Amino acid sequence: MMVSSFGSRLWRVSALVFLAASTVSSTLTIDNSRVLTINGIEYYSGDAVSRISPSGPKAELGDIVPMTIIRTDEALLTANAIKEIISNYSAVDDVFQTAFLKTVFLVYDGKGRAKADSSVSHALQEFGNTLIMATHGYAGAHITPAKLPDDIPKGPYLYSSHTGEIYQAFRLYPDHQLAFTEASLGDGQGGFRPLPAVTSGAMTKGVAVPSRLYYTPTSTKPLAGLRVGVKDIFDLKGLRTSGGNRAYYDLYPPRNTTGPALQRLIDAGTIIVGKMGTVQFANGDNPTADWVDFHCPFNPRGDGYQAPGGSSSGPGAGVASYDWLDIAIGSDTGGSMRSPAGMQGLFGNRPSTGAVSLDNVLPLCHELDTAGVFARNAATWSKVMHAWYQNFTDYREYPKKLFYQPSSFPSINTTSGALLEELILKVEGFLNAKRESIDIASHWEKTHPSETTSIATLLRTTYASLVSVDQYRSLALPFYADYAAKHGGRRPFVNPGPLARWSWGQKNGGDAIYDEALKNKTIFKDWWETDGYGKADEKTCSEGIYLYPYTTGQTQYRNVYFDAPSGPPMGFSDGRIAVLSGTPDLVVPVGEIPYYSTISLQTEYMPVTMSFIAARGCDLMLVNLVEDLEKAGILKPVSTGPRMYPA
Ligand SMILES: *[C@@H]1O[C@H](CO)[C@@H](O)[C@H](O)[C@H]1NC(C)=O
Ligand SMILES: *[C@@H]1O[C@H](CO)[C@@H](O)[C@H](O)[C@H]1NC(C)=O
Ligand SMILES: *[C@@H]1O[C@H](CO)[C@@H](O)[C@H](O)[C@H]1NC(C)=O
Ligand SMILES: *[C@@H]1O[C@H](CO)[C@@H](O)[C@H](O)[C@H]1NC(C)=O
Ligand SMILES: *[C@@H]1O[C@H](CO)[C@@H](O)[C@H](O)[C@H]1NC(C)=O
Repeated sequence: MMVSSFGSRLWRVSALVFLAASTVSSTLTIDNSRVLTINGIEYYSGDAVSRISPSGPKAELGDIVPMTIIRTDEALLTANAIKEIISNYSAVDDVFQTAFLKTVFLVYDGKGRAKADSSVSHALQEFGNTLIMATHGYAGAHITPAKLPDDIPKGPYLYSSHTGEIYQAFRLYPDHQLAFTEASLGDGQGGFRPLPAVTSGAMTKGVAVPSRLYYTPTSTKPLAGLRVGVKDIFDLKGLRTSGGNRAYYDLYPPRNTTGPALQRLIDAGTIIVGKMGTVQFANGDNPTADWVDFHCPFNPRGDGYQAPGGSSSGPGAGVASYDWLDIAIGSDTGGSMRSPAGMQGLFGNRPSTGAVSLDNVLPLCHELDTAGVFARNAATWSKVMHAWYQNFTDYREYPKKLFYQPSSFPSINTTSGALLEELILKVEGFLNAKRESIDIASHWEKTHPSETTSIATLLRTTYASLVSVDQYRSLALPFYADYAAKHGGRRPFVNPGPLARWSWGQKNGGDAIYDEALKNKTIFKDWWETDGYGKADEKTCSEGIYLYPYTTGQTQYRNVYFDAPSGPPMGFSDGRIAVLSGTPDLVVPVGEIPYYSTISLQTEYMPVTMSFIAARGCDLMLVNLVEDLEKAGILKPVSTGPRMYPA
């Protein structure tokens, strides 16, 4: 075992306060703790959580030593029980390693007195243990009696033998996919601070994750210990928000509030480990040329040089790349959750509009913005949605109608068409339902409100008008004014994509097209809910489920040069249904398609995904169904890395 501490304590002078002459001038220093390497793995020692007494330098120990707190209710602790506990800790936790057994503190959680068999210390010595401490609960040879005043959870810690203090152990992971914009740590007061530590790696930051052993889910904290990354358009108290723009990050101070949507996840027990990459201000850019201010996060699928989808690019890339990250939060206005889920083969949802409050989130369009979650399996996805979307009814009975528009699907003779068809057949079997072939445009022609025209004409510029005008008013103008006030009248840099969209909106009518677009959107929404395919149902929440392919295994190389962005996207397509009608749209991974990579010169694989749409407010019904499909083996959890389903 090797323990080294590089650098001594990292002291950071955070503020120099000069007071009036009559008072003492003082320097406020913040102890940022330290980075340690244990057997080649980097750790960050967090804040002290307790102090063991008695303390005092123990010659054979260094200043900071790894420690494991073992909690058990075994009244007679034996070597076998200890070995089983250690093997359990190793199985569930990536922060723990047996080097943390260098020192051990035993806590007895049972009743009455307990005894540790002398074989326990022999068993621990095999892992390099040099000191076992215990409260009065455990007596025994080789056990040093000590006091641990706080009720702290089991798991790995760092122990100062000089002061007796014990610090939480965080493992530092390199963000080699550039999924994060800023790593964070809880500040112990309900807020956050930037993580003051880095690891090695080209261009990469470190992200610190706490031991999984510290957390046990309960009914009030069902998401306890779930590690989450957050798209950098959501405010977190104590951190700045960048929106993917450097000038924006620098202009505004750290936020003083965490928005209610994230607060609900924090209250449910999630651990927020950092802010993640976004297409600038949640718009839609192509890597790499459009990403001028920040570099685009890397999609791990295939050859590793395919577009990650956007705008929630970083949250998608993180969940698709890192086993140490459980979920990530992003937003969807016109596909910003669904496109990364599709390109990176993940479970990713656009919820019904109004599912959670979007206060303290940078807006793209207030009428259309939503907050969703990425996961690698349906069980976790469902658990998070149930804890997060508390306003929806938890329907457990499913619709018997599957709406299927043949023109949306690739031919079943293609590899992706066959994969999608196979899933639909299985869903039909699972629901004991038959698909109903539909054609949205011709159904519209038969049933649409009399004063309107074709659906293509009605909705061609609706999305474009809503997003380009709203964001210009609610984000660009105040940003320009605040920046100019602070920088001698200058304009801040904005990427070509958002600039082109904002200027398209202003050139094409500004507020007037916004109002017209809102009317058109409402016409469509009302039709979808009454004469279309988004009708509510008392028993099953939704009359039916509309299925369409989200991605079909296509490549989108990052090193391809595109034409300069010219404005927001036009037209009506499957992906716009949920946007304009406010319904949920859940993207799920289906399979992989081989392609010959011009980068690796090998066969690589890209994801095929399917979208599930139901009536507004039916998010939990849909995710219950997806979870049941996973339980039935019809959908499968995906892995991180190049392959969703490694051979
Ligand atoms: C180890 O984990 C298994 C499976 O979760 C559990 O049944 C067992 O009780 C655990 N053993 C100890 C000693 O905690
Ligand atoms: C938080 O920041 C906002 C925006 O800068 C400001 O209006 C508000 O007064 C601040 N609130 C507190 C409690 O400091
Ligand atoms: C959820 O429901 C409550 C009570 O009906 C309501 O006050 C709140 O605004 C709703 N929240 C959202 C995000 O819709
Ligand atoms: C697909 O295959 C079927 C049966 O082999 C064939 O009849 C049909 O023409 C094919 N369709 C296309 C588009 O190739
Ligand atoms: C609204 O719909 C009308 C057709 O009814 C169409 O001509 C117009 O372009 C649409 N405008 C927007 C902004 O959606």
